[in-house]
Amino acid sequence: MTQDEMKKAAGWAALKYVERDTIVGVGTGSTVNHFIDALATIKDDIQGAVSSSEASTAKLKQLGIEVFDLNNVADIAVYVDGADEINDRMDMIKGGGAALTREKIVAAVAKKFICIVDNTKEVSILGDFPLPVEVIPMARSYVARELVKLGGDPEYRQGVITDNGNVILDVHNMKILDPKVMETKINAIVGVVTNGLFANRGADILLVGTPEGVKTVTAK
Ligand code: A5P
Repeated sequence: MTQDEMKKAAGWAALKYVERDTIVGVGTGSTVNHFIDALATIKDDIQGAVSSSEASTAKLKQLGIEVFDLNNVADIAVYVDGADEINDRMDMIKGGGAALTREKIVAAVAKKFICIVDNTKEVSILGDFPLPVEVIPMARSYVARELVKLGGDPEYRQGVITDNGNVILDVHNMKILDPKVMETKINAIVGVVTNGLFANRGADILLVGTPEGVKTVTAK
Protein backbone atom coordinates (compact mmCIF):
# COMPACT_ATOMS: atom_id res chain seq x y z
CA MET A 1 0.00 0.00 0.00
CA THR A 2 1.41 3.42 -0.90
CA GLN A 3 1.53 6.37 1.49
CA ASP A 4 -1.07 8.16 -0.62
CA GLU A 5 -3.42 5.15 -0.45
CA MET A 6 -3.13 5.26 3.36
CA LYS A 7 -3.86 9.01 3.32
CA LYS A 8 -6.89 8.35 1.12
CA ALA A 9 -8.20 5.63 3.43
CA ALA A 10 -7.92 7.98 6.44
CA GLY A 11 -9.52 10.86 4.52
CA TRP A 12 -12.53 8.81 3.47
CA ALA A 13 -12.89 7.31 6.97
CA ALA A 14 -13.46 10.82 8.35
CA LEU A 15 -16.73 11.10 6.41
CA LYS A 16 -18.67 9.18 9.04
CA TYR A 17 -17.89 11.87 11.65
CA VAL A 18 -19.48 14.63 9.56
CA GLU A 19 -22.81 15.68 11.01
CA ARG A 20 -25.63 16.26 8.54
CA ASP A 21 -26.88 19.81 7.96
CA THR A 22 -23.84 21.41 9.60
CA ILE A 23 -20.91 23.53 8.45
CA VAL A 24 -17.76 21.39 8.35
CA GLY A 25 -14.28 22.69 9.22
CA VAL A 26 -11.82 21.68 6.52
CA GLY A 27 -8.03 21.69 6.90
CA THR A 28 -5.25 21.70 4.34
CA GLY A 29 -2.91 19.25 2.65
CA SER A 30 -2.75 16.11 0.57
CA THR A 31 -4.65 13.98 3.13
CA VAL A 32 -7.38 16.59 3.46
CA ASN A 33 -7.67 16.71 -0.34
CA HIS A 34 -8.91 13.11 -0.15
CA PHE A 35 -11.35 14.13 2.57
CA ILE A 36 -12.67 16.93 0.36
CA ASP A 37 -13.26 14.41 -2.45
CA ALA A 38 -15.22 12.30 0.04
CA LEU A 39 -17.14 15.32 1.34
CA ALA A 40 -18.26 16.18 -2.19
CA THR A 41 -20.22 12.90 -2.29
CA ILE A 42 -22.49 14.18 0.53
CA LYS A 43 -22.46 17.86 -0.37
CA ASP A 44 -26.27 18.04 -0.51
CA ASP A 45 -26.47 16.81 3.10
CA ILE A 46 -24.26 19.55 4.59
CA GLN A 47 -24.64 23.33 4.68
CA GLY A 48 -21.08 23.87 3.52
CA ALA A 49 -17.57 24.35 4.86
CA VAL A 50 -15.22 26.73 6.60
CA SER A 51 -11.76 26.41 5.09
CA SER A 52 -8.27 26.85 6.53
CA SER A 53 -6.51 27.88 3.30
CA GLU A 54 -6.95 29.40 -0.13
CA ALA A 55 -5.94 26.03 -1.62
CA SER A 56 -8.68 24.10 0.20
CA THR A 57 -11.19 26.85 -0.56
CA ALA A 58 -10.47 26.53 -4.28
CA LYS A 59 -10.91 22.75 -4.20
CA LEU A 60 -14.10 22.93 -2.14
CA LYS A 61 -15.66 25.47 -4.50
CA GLN A 62 -14.58 23.54 -7.57
CA LEU A 63 -16.47 20.52 -6.21
CA GLY A 64 -19.59 22.60 -5.54
CA ILE A 65 -19.28 22.92 -1.75
CA GLU A 66 -20.20 26.35 -0.39
CA VAL A 67 -17.43 28.01 1.65
CA PHE A 68 -18.46 30.29 4.52
CA ASP A 69 -16.50 33.13 6.15
CA LEU A 70 -15.69 32.03 9.72
CA ASN A 71 -16.94 35.38 11.01
CA ASN A 72 -20.43 34.44 9.87
CA VAL A 73 -20.39 31.02 11.51
CA ALA A 74 -21.12 30.49 15.21
CA ASP A 75 -20.51 26.75 15.47
CA ILE A 76 -18.37 24.14 13.82
CA ALA A 77 -19.24 20.64 15.02
CA VAL A 78 -16.29 18.89 13.39
CA TYR A 79 -12.90 20.01 12.00
CA VAL A 80 -10.99 17.54 9.83
CA ASP A 81 -7.29 18.10 9.19
CA GLY A 82 -3.99 16.30 8.68
CA ALA A 83 -0.74 16.58 10.64
CA ASP A 84 2.97 16.36 10.05
CA GLU A 85 3.56 14.50 13.33
CA ILE A 86 1.26 13.27 16.10
CA ASN A 87 2.14 11.63 19.42
CA ASP A 88 0.09 9.27 21.57
CA ARG A 89 -1.25 12.21 23.60
CA MET A 90 -2.76 13.65 20.41
CA ASP A 91 -0.36 16.61 20.35
CA MET A 92 0.58 17.53 16.79
CA ILE A 93 3.06 19.41 14.64
CA LYS A 94 1.25 21.03 11.73
CA GLY A 95 2.05 23.67 9.14
CA GLY A 96 4.11 21.77 6.60
CA GLY A 97 1.79 23.40 4.06
CA ALA A 98 2.17 26.84 5.74
CA ALA A 99 -1.53 27.03 6.67
CA LEU A 100 -0.99 26.65 10.44
CA THR A 101 -2.54 29.92 11.64
CA ARG A 102 -5.87 29.55 9.88
CA GLU A 103 -5.86 25.86 10.85
CA LYS A 104 -5.39 26.78 14.50
CA ILE A 105 -8.20 29.35 14.33
CA VAL A 106 -10.72 26.93 12.81
CA ALA A 107 -9.60 24.20 15.24
CA ALA A 108 -10.20 26.60 18.15
CA VAL A 109 -13.81 27.13 17.08
CA ALA A 110 -14.57 23.46 16.36
CA LYS A 111 -16.11 21.20 18.98
CA LYS A 112 -14.26 18.13 17.68
CA PHE A 113 -10.90 17.83 15.88
CA ILE A 114 -10.58 14.73 13.69
CA CYS A 115 -6.95 14.21 12.66
CA ILE A 116 -6.34 12.15 9.51
CA VAL A 117 -2.85 10.79 8.79
CA ASP A 118 -0.96 7.91 7.25
CA ASN A 119 1.10 5.77 9.61
CA THR A 120 4.39 7.60 8.89
CA LYS A 121 3.12 10.55 10.98
CA GLU A 122 2.91 8.73 14.32
CA VAL A 123 5.87 9.52 16.63
CA SER A 124 6.74 9.12 20.29
CA ILE A 125 8.45 12.53 20.63
CA LEU A 126 7.58 15.54 18.44
CA GLY A 127 10.35 17.45 16.69
CA ASP A 128 11.95 15.37 13.96
CA PHE A 129 9.70 17.28 11.57
CA PRO A 130 10.90 20.93 11.59
CA LEU A 131 8.41 23.01 13.58
CA PRO A 132 6.82 25.75 11.41
CA VAL A 133 6.45 29.20 12.99
CA GLU A 134 4.50 31.94 11.19
CA VAL A 135 6.19 35.30 11.70
CA ILE A 136 5.45 38.94 10.81
CA PRO A 137 8.09 39.67 8.11
CA MET A 138 9.87 42.55 9.91
CA ALA A 139 10.36 40.38 13.02
CA ARG A 140 11.96 37.45 11.19
CA SER A 141 15.57 37.85 12.38
CA TYR A 142 14.59 38.77 15.93
CA VAL A 143 12.27 35.76 16.23
CA ALA A 144 14.96 33.50 14.77
CA ARG A 145 17.41 34.63 17.47
CA GLU A 146 14.80 33.97 20.19
CA LEU A 147 14.13 30.49 18.77
CA VAL A 148 17.85 29.71 18.99
CA LYS A 149 17.65 30.59 22.71
CA LEU A 150 14.90 27.97 23.05
CA GLY A 151 17.26 25.35 21.62
CA GLY A 152 16.10 25.32 18.01
CA ASP A 153 17.78 25.82 14.69
CA PRO A 154 15.44 28.05 12.64
CA GLU A 155 15.53 28.14 8.86
CA TYR A 156 13.73 30.73 6.74
CA ARG A 157 11.35 28.98 4.30
CA GLN A 158 12.52 30.79 1.18
CA GLY A 159 9.93 31.96 -1.32
CA VAL A 160 6.89 31.17 0.86
CA ILE A 161 4.37 33.83 1.85
CA THR A 162 1.43 32.59 3.92
CA ASP A 163 -2.22 33.28 3.09
CA ASN A 164 -1.94 36.00 5.78
CA GLY A 165 1.04 37.72 4.12
CA ASN A 166 3.64 36.49 6.60
CA VAL A 167 6.77 34.29 6.45
CA ILE A 168 7.61 30.87 7.90
CA LEU A 169 10.60 29.83 10.01
CA ASP A 170 11.05 26.04 10.21
CA VAL A 171 12.73 25.11 13.49
CA HIS A 172 15.03 22.09 13.23
CA ASN A 173 16.65 19.91 15.88
CA MET A 174 14.13 20.39 18.66
CA LYS A 175 13.19 17.46 20.84
CA ILE A 176 9.84 18.67 22.12
CA LEU A 177 9.34 16.93 25.44
CA ASP A 178 6.58 19.22 26.70
CA PRO A 179 4.58 20.38 23.64
CA LYS A 180 2.07 22.49 25.63
CA VAL A 181 4.82 24.50 27.33
CA MET A 182 6.82 24.92 24.10
CA GLU A 183 3.70 26.02 22.18
CA THR A 184 3.02 28.71 24.78
CA LYS A 185 6.66 29.88 24.97
CA ILE A 186 7.04 30.29 21.21
CA ASN A 187 3.72 32.07 20.90
CA ALA A 188 4.90 34.57 23.52
CA ILE A 189 7.77 35.81 21.30
CA VAL A 190 6.83 39.21 19.90
CA GLY A 191 6.38 38.97 16.14
CA VAL A 192 5.21 35.34 16.16
CA VAL A 193 1.71 34.94 14.76
CA THR A 194 1.49 31.33 15.89
CA ASN A 195 3.48 28.12 15.80
CA GLY A 196 2.68 24.68 14.45
CA LEU A 197 2.38 22.93 17.80
CA PHE A 198 -1.23 21.92 18.37
CA ALA A 199 -0.99 20.71 21.96
CA ASN A 200 -3.10 23.09 24.02
CA ARG A 201 -5.84 22.18 21.55
CA GLY A 202 -4.92 18.72 20.29
CA ALA A 203 -6.92 16.18 18.32
CA ASP A 204 -9.98 14.43 19.75
CA ILE A 205 -10.06 11.54 17.31
CA LEU A 206 -7.18 10.22 15.23
CA LEU A 207 -7.70 8.15 12.09
CA VAL A 208 -4.51 6.48 10.88
CA GLY A 209 -4.29 4.86 7.45
CA THR A 210 -2.23 1.65 7.73
CA PRO A 211 -1.69 -1.31 5.37
CA GLU A 212 -4.07 -3.28 7.65
CA GLY A 213 -6.87 -0.67 7.46
CA VAL A 214 -7.77 2.53 9.27
CA LYS A 215 -6.94 2.60 12.98
CA THR A 216 -9.09 4.83 15.23
CA VAL A 217 -7.66 6.41 18.39
CA THR A 218 -9.76 8.48 20.80
CA ALA A 219 -8.27 11.08 23.15
CA LYS A 220 -8.19 9.97 26.78
C1 A5P B 1 -0.82 22.25 6.41
O1 A5P B 1 -0.34 23.49 6.79
C2 A5P B 1 -0.48 21.20 7.39
O2 A5P B 1 -0.78 21.47 8.70
C3 A5P B 1 -1.01 19.85 6.98
O3 A5P B 1 -2.11 19.48 7.73
C4 A5P B 1 0.07 18.88 7.19
O4 A5P B 1 1.25 19.41 6.60
C5 A5P B 1 -0.24 17.51 6.61
O5 A5P B 1 -0.15 17.54 5.24
P1 A5P B 1 -0.31 16.26 4.34
O6 A5P B 1 -1.68 15.73 4.56
O7 A5P B 1 -0.10 16.76 2.94
O8 A5P B 1 0.74 15.29 4.75
